[in-house]
Amino acid sequence: MSTLVVVGTQWGDEGKGKIVDLLTEYAEVIVRFQGGNNAGHTLVVDGEQFIFHLIPSGILNDDKLCLIGNGVVIDPSIFIQELEGLASRGRPVTADRLRLSLNAHLIMPYHKALDLAREAAKAEGKKLGTTGRGIGPCYDDKIIRNGIKVADLLDSSLFREKLEDNVKEKNFYLTKLLNADPLDPENIYAEFQDYAERLAPFIDNVSILIDDALHSGKNVLFEGAQGTQLDIDHGTYPFVTSSNTVAGAACCGAGIGPSKINRVLGICKAYTTRVGGGPFPTELEDEVGDYLQEKGAEFGATTGRRRRCGWLDGVVLRDAVRINGLDGLAITKLDVLSGLDQINICAEYDISGTRHTCMPGNIREVESIKPIYRTLSGWNEDLSRMRSFDDLPEEARDYLKTIEDMAGTPIMLISVGPNREQTIFLKNPFE
Ligand code: GDP
Ligand code: IMO
Ligand code: MG
Repeated sequence: MSTLVVVGTQWGDEGKGKIVDLLTEYAEVIVRFQGGNNAGHTLVVDGEQFIFHLIPSGILNDDKLCLIGNGVVIDPSIFIQELEGLASRGRPVTADRLRLSLNAHLIMPYHKALDLAREAAKAEGKKLGTTGRGIGPCYDDKIIRNGIKVADLLDSSLFREKLEDNVKEKNFYLTKLLNADPLDPENIYAEFQDYAERLAPFIDNVSILIDDALHSGKNVLFEGAQGTQLDIDHGTYPFVTSSNTVAGAACCGAGIGPSKINRVLGICKAYTTRVGGGPFPTELEDEVGDYLQEKGAEFGATTGRRRRCGWLDGVVLRDAVRINGLDGLAITKLDVLSGLDQINICAEYDISGTRHTCMPGNIREVESIKPIYRTLSGWNEDLSRMRSFDDLPEEARDYLKTIEDMAGTPIMLISVGPNREQTIFLKNPFE
């Protein structure tokens, strides 16, 4: 038995979906452990594109069990939409292959209304640029102990009681403070009774299912969402998401102990992107940024927003290695860098004349970072058909070696295109 946690090392959208789909070959169980449908994980299989927001990216492999852990926040309408989407594409999924934790919290309609109204009420420059999916308000309720859990769907009187208490409070807040419309608890109750029926077969104790799998010698793959710099504790707060996105969250968010985690793989895009508000030290607001955005087709997989683009940030990468305890890296989208004369990597930060080797805690300091770059030669060759390290141009190999040196951890996989087969395997991260 072996376990592997896959996490994003930057601000999300590093290509986690593609790598998880690929590594599913070596695992029997695939688990999401945090976040919700703010995530958008893209898979391209036999030229066909799939985007998953909630269901683990292992679902296209027929004989695998996919689990959604207690740390995930669940919008039942999205869960059903994804199931229907898969069925309509000839890939129906039943409860023998997909389970939902009874301890996960539900994203309610008032969470989405609050998310949108709070963002609208914020001044320009202070907007977080959330996905508007109700993620923050749902985690809010979980932490202040007002949340409604998946298990509550199966107890209609408990569900109704919690719903009425919540709607009363939220309607006050929505109408009096945020100038938004109130919600009708009866409509929500009726809607969620339907969801309860649809979700019931999938509801289970995910912690026990993982424990059983480990006891019978199976490999388990944990699929992180977002990225290290979006982590509620370790990211560029407050411009972050509302969950812990780092590898440690796999334990709390799936219900397993730290001694059961064997390996952690960090997914690192060969450059950096960020979608939404917040500081981005290596952002390129010039033609090189436009080149990366266009060549990398950098549009959000969840909201369709244009992603901001910039150079790879070695400080962010080193932080990710430390915080997640990374055993190795998968470098994605290396193909996108072809065609640039020179490529920069940020080695350190200059903040008011002082050198820094890690992300500062003060957001004003983060906003004032001046990156100190190391400049490398670029290459023109198309990498998308290359399948071994030795095929890569010397400049690309130098770039990868520089990343490895800066990170102090080995590169295990190199991705040169969105398809499964566009991957150079250097080491199996499960081993
Ligand atoms: P995730 O949220 O980390 O799963 O990443 P997203 O799916 O949001 O964004 C990654 C995008 O890059 C998707 O459109 C992928 O299909 C695509 N992609 C993944 N790996 C590669 C790669 O190596 N090269 C190129 N050109 N595209 C890739
Ligand atoms: P994947 O898993 C990129 C960003 C949002 C916003 C901030 C807070 O596909 O990598 P939220 O809706 O979570 O309260 O928004 O976090 N964000 C992501 N950015 N990839 C994601 O997921 C993201 N999930 C949230 O854009 O800036
Ligand atoms: Mg994404």
